[in-house]
Amino acid sequence: MGLFSFLFGKKSSPGAPRKGLKRISLEKRFEMSGRTGQGSMSKVFRAYDREIGRNVCLKLLDKLKTQTFEARFVGLKKPTEGEICMALRHDHIVRTYEHGITTKGEPYLVMEWVEGLGLNYLVDTRSPQLNGNRITILGQLCDAVQYMHDNKFLHRDLCPRNVMIDKEGQVKLIDFGLTIPYTPAFCAPGNRTGTPDILAPELLRRKAIDHRVDLFALGVTAYEVFTGQLPWERSPSSEETFRRRLNTPPRHAKDLKPDIGDQLDEILWKSIAREPTDRFASAAAFKEALLKLEKQDY
Ligand SMILES: Nc1ncnc2c1ncn2[C@@H]1O[C@H](COP(=O)(O)OP(=O)(O)OP(=O)(O)O)[C@@H](O)[C@H]1O
Ligand SMILES: [Mg+2]
Repeated sequence: MGLFSFLFGKKSSPGAPRKGLKRISLEKRFEMSGRTGQGSMSKVFRAYDREIGRNVCLKLLDKLKTQTFEARFVGLKKPTEGEICMALRHDHIVRTYEHGITTKGEPYLVMEWVEGLGLNYLVDTRSPQLNGNRITILGQLCDAVQYMHDNKFLHRDLCPRNVMIDKEGQVKLIDFGLTIPYTPAFCAPGNRTGTPDILAPELLRRKAIDHRVDLFALGVTAYEVFTGQLPWERSPSSEETFRRRLNTPPRHAKDLKPDIGDQLDEILWKSIAREPTDRFASAAAFKEALLKLEKQDY
């Protein structure tokens, strides 16, 4: 399906399964070999697909939560997560083979199985696997984000948890549960959906958004990858966390990690600027700045 065909097609009721979608019985088709994740909107399994004869990742979406989420876009014909995933083809984006509805009515996605670890795990454990590879990892992530923006999508949930690093050290961006088409109608002021740590100030103020909300999230992700910490200290109360982000400047990365030079400190500072116009203009521009650093062995 072309990237834009679902944006201009016929309308259907929000969250309702699209006509003609493949319906499968999970038990008949898959040999489940283990639960890998419990997301807020889904269950994720590693499974052997008897039909195509290989191990895959099966993501089963929660039927009710998905319908509630999709209902927010009433009248806009939002493409489903499955439709969006099928349209994305990039070396650093997880490949989706198929999507449909189970015989129990749950939307499902069949994806490539990524043998690897979440970037959040590598950050939280201060993994030596990151050493010397941070710029490469973030550069690949920038490529994936730039591809999404070029193809008129906003990811809206960029954070270390939604980035996997495979066995070869390659980035695979995952989780398109909050992705929307990058059009004025979808970017109108509205609710503050997303992982609280990465919500840009303009989102917290419920203003209209653009691709720079993803660039802010990318900046926070990069900051975590370089420092192991968030730019603004988290408070137990999310309202207080949001107030801090709106009213106070972030911490300088070099104050948290002395090996961070002035150049990198400035790049990170710019990437998480509270004013969208002060940020990098694109993911590609952010990557270019990282690649121009004199010190590359971070
Ligand atoms: N293709 C894959 N290969 C291997 N593991 C995967 C794959 N896709 C997802 N996972 C694992 O499952 C977890 C949950 O997946 P995902 O983020 O897509 O679901 P979600 O319900 O949107 O999650 P959350 O609300 O936690 O962001 C991931 O963090 C990752 O550990
Ligand atoms: Mg996720």
